[in-house]
Amino acid sequence: MKRVGFLTSGGDCQGLNATMRGVAKTLFQKYPDMEIYGILEGYKGLIYGNYRLLKSRDFSGILTEGGTIIGTSRTPFKYMRMPDENGLDKVEAMKSNYKKWGLDCLVILGGNGTHKTANLLREEGCNVVTLPKTIDNDIWGTDMTFGFQSAVDIATNAIDCIHTTAASHGRVFIVEVMGHKVGWLTLHAGIAGGADIILIPEIPYDINVVVDALDKRAKEGKNFSILAVAEGAISKEDAELSKKELKAKRKKNPFPSISYQIGQEIQEKTGQEVRITVPGHTQRGGQPCPYDRVISSRLGSAAARMVIEEKYGYMAALRDGEVVPVPLEEVAGKLKMVDPDSAIIQEVKGLGISFGI
Ligand code: F6P
Repeated sequence: MKRVGFLTSGGDCQGLNATMRGVAKTLFQKYPDMEIYGILEGYKGLIYGNYRLLKSRDFSGILTEGGTIIGTSRTPFKYMRMPDENGLDKVEAMKSNYKKWGLDCLVILGGNGTHKTANLLREEGCNVVTLPKTIDNDIWGTDMTFGFQSAVDIATNAIDCIHTTAASHGRVFIVEVMGHKVGWLTLHAGIAGGADIILIPEIPYDINVVVDALDKRAKEGKNFSILAVAEGAISKEDAELSKKELKAKRKKNPFPSISYQIGQEIQEKTGQEVRITVPGHTQRGGQPCPYDRVISSRLGSAAARMVIEEKYGYMAALRDGEVVPVPLEEVAGKLKMVDPDSAIIQEVKGLGISFGI
Protein backbone atom coordinates (compact mmCIF):
# COMPACT_ATOMS: atom_id res chain seq x y z
CA MET A 1 0.00 0.00 0.00
CA LYS A 2 1.22 3.46 -0.82
CA ARG A 3 0.06 6.82 0.43
CA VAL A 4 0.98 9.75 -1.76
CA GLY A 5 0.18 13.46 -1.45
CA PHE A 6 -0.61 15.44 -4.62
CA LEU A 7 -0.02 19.18 -4.55
CA THR A 8 -0.38 21.86 -7.24
CA SER A 9 1.23 25.21 -6.48
CA GLY A 10 1.70 28.62 -8.13
CA GLY A 11 -0.25 29.98 -11.10
CA ASP A 12 -2.48 27.34 -12.65
CA CYS A 13 -2.24 26.24 -16.27
CA GLN A 14 -3.71 23.78 -18.71
CA GLY A 15 -2.62 20.19 -18.15
CA LEU A 16 -2.47 20.13 -14.34
CA ASN A 17 -5.43 17.76 -14.12
CA ALA A 18 -4.23 15.73 -17.10
CA THR A 19 -0.84 15.27 -15.39
CA MET A 20 -2.34 14.27 -12.02
CA ARG A 21 -4.57 11.83 -13.89
CA GLY A 22 -1.47 10.37 -15.56
CA VAL A 23 0.24 9.87 -12.18
CA ALA A 24 -2.89 8.48 -10.51
CA LYS A 25 -3.87 6.08 -13.32
CA THR A 26 -0.38 4.58 -13.37
CA LEU A 27 -0.23 4.28 -9.57
CA PHE A 28 -3.69 2.71 -9.31
CA GLN A 29 -2.63 0.08 -11.88
CA LYS A 30 0.16 -0.97 -9.55
CA TYR A 31 -1.51 -0.37 -6.17
CA PRO A 32 -5.32 -0.65 -6.51
CA ASP A 33 -5.77 0.13 -2.77
CA MET A 34 -3.45 3.11 -2.69
CA GLU A 35 -4.41 6.37 -1.00
CA ILE A 36 -4.00 9.74 -2.61
CA TYR A 37 -4.15 12.80 -0.42
CA GLY A 38 -5.21 15.77 -2.54
CA ILE A 39 -3.48 18.59 -0.63
CA LEU A 40 -5.68 21.65 -1.06
CA GLU A 41 -4.54 25.02 -2.45
CA GLY A 42 -0.86 24.25 -2.84
CA TYR A 43 1.65 24.54 -0.01
CA LYS A 44 -1.04 26.27 2.06
CA GLY A 45 -2.80 22.91 2.41
CA LEU A 46 0.42 21.24 3.51
CA ILE A 47 1.14 23.99 6.04
CA TYR A 48 -2.36 24.14 7.53
CA GLY A 49 -3.27 20.47 7.15
CA ASN A 50 -6.01 20.66 4.51
CA TYR A 51 -6.51 17.72 2.18
CA ARG A 52 -9.17 15.56 0.60
CA LEU A 53 -8.85 11.86 -0.13
CA LEU A 54 -8.96 11.25 -3.86
CA LYS A 55 -10.34 8.04 -5.31
CA SER A 56 -9.67 6.55 -8.70
CA ARG A 57 -13.01 7.94 -9.94
CA ASP A 58 -11.87 11.51 -9.10
CA PHE A 59 -9.40 11.27 -11.96
CA SER A 60 -11.96 10.19 -14.56
CA GLY A 61 -13.01 12.78 -17.11
CA ILE A 62 -10.39 15.36 -16.13
CA LEU A 63 -7.92 14.86 -18.99
CA THR A 64 -9.44 17.78 -20.87
CA GLU A 65 -10.29 19.99 -17.87
CA GLY A 66 -8.29 23.17 -17.30
CA GLY A 67 -7.37 24.40 -13.80
CA THR A 68 -6.68 22.01 -10.93
CA ILE A 69 -9.18 19.85 -9.02
CA ILE A 70 -7.26 20.41 -5.77
CA GLY A 71 -6.82 24.18 -6.08
CA THR A 72 -3.62 26.19 -5.99
CA SER A 73 -2.12 29.27 -4.37
CA ARG A 74 1.01 31.33 -4.49
CA THR A 75 3.10 30.76 -1.35
CA PRO A 76 6.37 32.55 -2.20
CA PHE A 77 9.54 30.67 -1.35
CA LYS A 78 11.09 33.77 0.25
CA TYR A 79 8.40 33.66 2.99
CA MET A 80 8.68 29.92 3.66
CA ARG A 81 11.31 30.38 6.36
CA MET A 82 9.34 33.22 7.98
CA PRO A 83 6.71 32.37 10.61
CA ASP A 84 3.09 33.15 9.67
CA GLU A 85 1.04 35.87 11.44
CA ASN A 86 0.40 33.45 14.34
CA GLY A 87 4.06 32.53 14.71
CA LEU A 88 3.69 29.17 12.97
CA ASP A 89 6.92 27.76 11.53
CA LYS A 90 5.75 26.86 8.00
CA VAL A 91 8.52 24.42 7.18
CA GLU A 92 8.07 22.53 10.46
CA ALA A 93 4.30 22.52 9.91
CA MET A 94 4.71 20.98 6.42
CA LYS A 95 7.07 18.32 7.74
CA SER A 96 4.78 17.56 10.64
CA ASN A 97 1.71 17.08 8.40
CA TYR A 98 3.74 14.96 6.00
CA LYS A 99 4.68 12.69 8.93
CA LYS A 100 1.25 12.78 10.59
CA TRP A 101 -0.46 11.70 7.37
CA GLY A 102 2.08 8.90 6.92
CA LEU A 103 2.89 9.89 3.34
CA ASP A 104 5.37 7.83 1.35
CA CYS A 105 6.02 10.85 -0.82
CA LEU A 106 4.75 14.11 -2.26
CA VAL A 107 4.03 14.56 -5.96
CA ILE A 108 4.38 18.29 -6.56
CA LEU A 109 3.30 20.05 -9.76
CA GLY A 110 4.59 23.56 -10.18
CA GLY A 111 6.85 26.19 -11.66
CA ASN A 112 10.04 27.86 -10.51
CA GLY A 113 9.02 29.02 -7.04
CA THR A 114 7.31 25.71 -6.39
CA HIS A 115 10.51 23.86 -7.25
CA LYS A 116 12.52 25.89 -4.75
CA THR A 117 10.16 24.87 -1.95
CA ALA A 118 10.03 21.27 -3.22
CA ASN A 119 13.82 21.17 -3.01
CA LEU A 120 13.68 22.64 0.49
CA LEU A 121 11.28 19.86 1.55
CA ARG A 122 13.67 17.31 0.02
CA GLU A 123 16.54 18.81 2.03
CA GLU A 124 14.35 18.58 5.11
CA GLY A 125 13.90 14.85 4.61
CA CYS A 126 10.60 14.53 2.71
CA ASN A 127 10.37 12.26 -0.33
CA VAL A 128 9.49 14.41 -3.32
CA VAL A 129 8.83 13.88 -7.03
CA THR A 130 7.97 16.95 -9.13
CA LEU A 131 6.47 17.81 -12.50
CA PRO A 132 7.17 20.92 -14.61
CA LYS A 133 4.11 23.11 -14.94
CA THR A 134 3.87 26.59 -16.44
CA ILE A 135 2.72 28.53 -19.47
CA ASP A 136 6.08 30.36 -19.29
CA ASN A 137 8.22 27.31 -20.24
CA ASP A 138 10.99 28.73 -18.06
CA ILE A 139 11.82 25.73 -15.88
CA TRP A 140 15.45 24.77 -16.11
CA GLY A 141 16.17 21.13 -16.99
CA THR A 142 13.20 20.40 -19.24
CA ASP A 143 12.77 21.23 -22.91
CA MET A 144 9.07 21.73 -22.41
CA THR A 145 6.62 22.40 -19.60
CA PHE A 146 2.99 21.37 -19.79
CA GLY A 147 0.65 24.34 -20.25
CA PHE A 148 3.03 26.14 -22.58
CA GLN A 149 1.68 24.90 -25.93
CA SER A 150 -1.93 25.49 -24.85
CA ALA A 151 -1.04 29.07 -23.96
CA VAL A 152 0.79 29.46 -27.29
CA ASP A 153 -2.48 28.43 -29.00
CA ILE A 154 -4.48 31.07 -27.12
CA ALA A 155 -1.96 33.88 -27.57
CA THR A 156 -1.63 32.98 -31.26
CA ASN A 157 -5.39 33.03 -31.65
CA ALA A 158 -5.42 36.53 -30.11
CA ILE A 159 -2.86 37.71 -32.69
CA ASP A 160 -4.81 35.99 -35.49
CA CYS A 161 -7.97 37.83 -34.47
CA ILE A 162 -6.11 41.14 -34.29
CA HIS A 163 -4.81 40.65 -37.85
CA THR A 164 -8.18 41.20 -39.52
CA THR A 165 -9.14 44.25 -37.48
CA ALA A 166 -5.63 45.74 -37.79
CA ALA A 167 -5.77 45.35 -41.57
CA SER A 168 -9.30 46.80 -41.83
CA HIS A 169 -8.38 49.91 -39.86
CA GLY A 170 -4.78 50.32 -40.92
CA ARG A 171 -3.53 50.46 -37.35
CA VAL A 172 -0.55 49.39 -35.31
CA PHE A 173 -1.56 46.75 -32.76
CA ILE A 174 0.35 45.54 -29.73
CA VAL A 175 -0.60 42.16 -28.28
CA GLU A 176 0.89 41.79 -24.80
CA VAL A 177 1.74 38.20 -24.01
CA MET A 178 2.37 36.62 -20.57
CA GLY A 179 5.60 34.83 -19.69
CA HIS A 180 6.83 36.59 -16.54
CA LYS A 181 10.59 37.23 -16.93
CA VAL A 182 11.11 35.19 -20.11
CA GLY A 183 10.05 35.45 -23.75
CA TRP A 184 9.24 31.85 -24.79
CA LEU A 185 5.50 32.37 -25.03
CA THR A 186 5.79 35.67 -26.90
CA LEU A 187 8.40 34.27 -29.26
CA HIS A 188 6.34 31.22 -30.20
CA ALA A 189 2.99 33.01 -30.39
CA GLY A 190 4.64 35.88 -32.29
CA ILE A 191 6.05 33.52 -34.91
CA ALA A 192 2.85 31.47 -35.16
CA GLY A 193 0.69 34.58 -35.36
CA GLY A 194 2.88 36.30 -37.95
CA ALA A 195 3.81 39.27 -35.78
CA ASP A 196 6.04 41.86 -37.49
CA ILE A 197 7.93 42.81 -34.35
CA ILE A 198 8.60 40.59 -31.33
CA LEU A 199 9.89 42.13 -28.10
CA ILE A 200 11.12 39.80 -25.35
CA PRO A 201 12.97 40.41 -22.04
CA GLU A 202 16.08 38.55 -23.18
CA ILE A 203 16.62 41.06 -26.04
CA PRO A 204 16.24 44.63 -24.68
CA TYR A 205 14.71 46.78 -27.42
CA ASP A 206 15.64 50.15 -28.86
CA ILE A 207 12.43 52.11 -29.46
CA ASN A 208 14.02 53.91 -32.43
CA VAL A 209 14.70 50.57 -34.12
CA VAL A 210 11.07 49.57 -33.47
CA VAL A 211 9.92 52.85 -35.04
CA ASP A 212 12.23 52.33 -38.06
CA ALA A 213 10.75 48.84 -38.59
CA LEU A 214 7.24 50.30 -38.53
CA ASP A 215 8.18 53.11 -40.93
CA LYS A 216 9.74 50.60 -43.31
CA ARG A 217 6.52 48.58 -43.39
CA ALA A 218 4.48 51.73 -44.00
CA LYS A 219 6.80 52.73 -46.89
CA GLU A 220 6.36 49.25 -48.37
CA GLY A 221 2.62 49.99 -48.53
CA LYS A 222 1.69 47.75 -45.60
CA ASN A 223 -1.13 49.53 -43.86
CA PHE A 224 -0.92 47.72 -40.51
CA SER A 225 1.65 46.23 -38.16
CA ILE A 226 1.45 43.83 -35.26
CA LEU A 227 3.82 43.71 -32.32
CA ALA A 228 3.93 40.71 -29.96
CA VAL A 229 5.29 42.20 -26.75
CA ALA A 230 6.22 40.11 -23.70
CA GLU A 231 4.88 41.44 -20.40
CA GLY A 232 8.51 41.43 -19.24
CA ALA A 233 9.91 43.26 -22.30
CA ILE A 234 12.44 45.94 -21.38
CA SER A 235 14.07 48.84 -23.23
CA LYS A 236 17.85 48.88 -23.62
CA GLU A 237 18.04 51.97 -21.37
CA ASP A 238 16.07 50.28 -18.57
CA ALA A 239 18.10 47.09 -18.93
CA GLU A 240 21.18 49.08 -17.93
CA LEU A 241 19.64 50.25 -14.63
CA SER A 242 20.26 48.49 -11.34
CA LYS A 243 17.36 46.54 -9.81
CA LYS A 244 16.86 49.35 -7.31
CA GLU A 245 16.91 52.12 -9.95
CA LEU A 246 14.48 50.21 -12.16
CA LYS A 247 12.08 49.65 -9.26
CA ALA A 248 12.14 53.37 -8.43
CA LYS A 249 11.58 54.31 -12.09
CA ARG A 250 8.68 51.89 -12.46
CA LYS A 251 7.03 53.27 -9.32
CA LYS A 252 6.69 56.63 -11.06
CA ASN A 253 5.61 55.04 -14.36
CA PRO A 254 1.99 55.98 -15.22
CA PHE A 255 1.48 53.04 -17.61
CA PRO A 256 -0.42 49.90 -16.53
CA SER A 257 2.10 47.73 -18.39
CA ILE A 258 5.03 47.94 -20.81
CA SER A 259 2.78 47.71 -23.91
CA TYR A 260 1.05 50.98 -23.04
CA GLN A 261 4.39 52.74 -22.73
CA ILE A 262 5.62 51.34 -26.05
CA GLY A 263 2.24 52.20 -27.63
CA GLN A 264 2.47 55.83 -26.57
CA GLU A 265 6.06 56.14 -27.79
CA ILE A 266 5.14 54.64 -31.18
CA GLN A 267 2.14 56.94 -31.57
CA GLU A 268 4.25 60.02 -30.73
CA LYS A 269 7.15 59.06 -32.97
CA THR A 270 5.25 57.73 -36.02
CA GLY A 271 1.87 59.44 -35.86
CA GLN A 272 0.33 56.01 -36.53
CA GLU A 273 -2.76 54.99 -34.58
CA VAL A 274 -1.93 52.34 -31.95
CA ARG A 275 -4.17 49.92 -30.04
CA ILE A 276 -3.23 47.54 -27.22
CA THR A 277 -4.69 44.09 -26.55
CA VAL A 278 -3.88 42.16 -23.37
CA PRO A 279 -5.25 38.60 -23.41
CA GLY A 280 -3.97 38.18 -19.81
CA HIS A 281 -5.18 35.17 -17.87
CA THR A 282 -7.17 33.78 -20.80
CA GLN A 283 -3.75 32.38 -21.77
CA ARG A 284 -3.86 30.08 -18.73
CA GLY A 285 -7.48 29.08 -19.06
CA GLY A 286 -9.57 26.45 -20.79
CA GLN A 287 -8.70 22.99 -22.05
CA PRO A 288 -5.16 21.72 -22.57
CA CYS A 289 -4.33 21.29 -26.27
CA PRO A 290 -3.68 17.73 -27.53
CA TYR A 291 0.10 18.21 -27.32
CA ASP A 292 -0.16 19.13 -23.63
CA ARG A 293 -2.49 16.18 -22.98
CA VAL A 294 0.15 13.89 -24.48
CA ILE A 295 3.11 15.28 -22.51
CA SER A 296 1.04 15.52 -19.32
CA SER A 297 0.10 11.85 -19.63
CA ARG A 298 3.68 10.84 -20.38
CA LEU A 299 5.22 12.94 -17.61
CA GLY A 300 2.54 11.77 -15.17
CA SER A 301 3.14 8.12 -15.99
CA ALA A 302 6.92 8.54 -15.67
CA ALA A 303 6.57 10.37 -12.34
CA ALA A 304 4.41 7.51 -11.03
CA ARG A 305 7.15 5.09 -12.05
CA MET A 306 9.59 7.16 -10.02
CA VAL A 307 7.25 6.85 -7.02
CA ILE A 308 6.96 3.09 -7.55
CA GLU A 309 10.75 2.74 -7.79
CA GLU A 310 11.21 5.14 -4.85
CA LYS A 311 13.40 7.35 -6.97
CA TYR A 312 12.84 10.50 -4.96
CA GLY A 313 14.29 13.99 -5.25
CA TYR A 314 13.79 14.33 -9.01
CA MET A 315 11.67 16.25 -11.52
CA ALA A 316 10.23 14.29 -14.45
CA ALA A 317 11.52 16.31 -17.42
CA LEU A 318 11.30 16.16 -21.20
CA ARG A 319 14.60 16.10 -23.02
CA ASP A 320 14.99 15.32 -26.71
CA GLY A 321 11.58 13.67 -26.75
CA GLU A 322 12.27 11.40 -23.77
CA VAL A 323 11.11 11.71 -20.18
CA VAL A 324 14.12 11.77 -17.88
CA PRO A 325 14.64 12.38 -14.14
CA VAL A 326 16.49 15.62 -13.31
CA PRO A 327 17.78 16.16 -9.73
CA LEU A 328 15.80 18.81 -7.87
CA GLU A 329 18.90 20.56 -6.57
CA GLU A 330 19.86 21.23 -10.21
CA VAL A 331 16.42 22.64 -11.09
CA ALA A 332 15.74 24.82 -8.04
CA GLY A 333 16.61 28.50 -8.39
CA LYS A 334 17.47 28.46 -12.10
CA LEU A 335 15.58 30.06 -14.98
CA LYS A 336 15.50 28.76 -18.55
CA MET A 337 15.64 31.84 -20.75
CA VAL A 338 15.62 32.39 -24.51
CA ASP A 339 19.19 32.54 -25.78
CA PRO A 340 19.51 35.64 -28.03
CA ASP A 341 22.16 33.77 -30.07
CA SER A 342 20.08 30.61 -30.53
CA ALA A 343 19.12 29.22 -33.93
CA ILE A 344 15.44 30.09 -33.49
CA ILE A 345 16.26 33.79 -33.01
CA GLN A 346 18.51 33.83 -36.07
CA GLU A 347 15.84 32.07 -38.15
CA VAL A 348 13.18 34.55 -37.06
CA LYS A 349 15.50 37.46 -37.89
CA GLY A 350 15.98 35.82 -41.30
CA LEU A 351 12.24 36.14 -41.85
CA GLY A 352 12.57 39.91 -41.49
CA ILE A 353 10.86 39.98 -38.08
CA SER A 354 12.34 42.70 -35.90
CA PHE A 355 13.38 42.22 -32.26
CA GLY A 356 13.84 45.96 -31.90
CA ILE A 357 17.63 45.84 -32.03
O1 F6P B 1 3.78 32.08 -14.26
C1 F6P B 1 2.59 32.08 -14.97
C2 F6P B 1 2.05 33.47 -15.10
O2 F6P B 1 0.84 33.42 -15.81
C3 F6P B 1 3.01 34.48 -15.72
O3 F6P B 1 3.07 34.37 -17.11
C4 F6P B 1 2.43 35.76 -15.21
O4 F6P B 1 3.42 36.77 -15.13
C5 F6P B 1 1.96 35.41 -13.83
O5 F6P B 1 1.77 34.00 -13.83
C6 F6P B 1 0.66 36.07 -13.41
O6 F6P B 1 0.46 35.73 -12.08
P1 F6P B 1 -0.92 35.91 -11.30
O7 F6P B 1 -1.86 34.84 -11.78
O8 F6P B 1 -0.55 35.74 -9.88
O9 F6P B 1 -1.44 37.26 -11.66
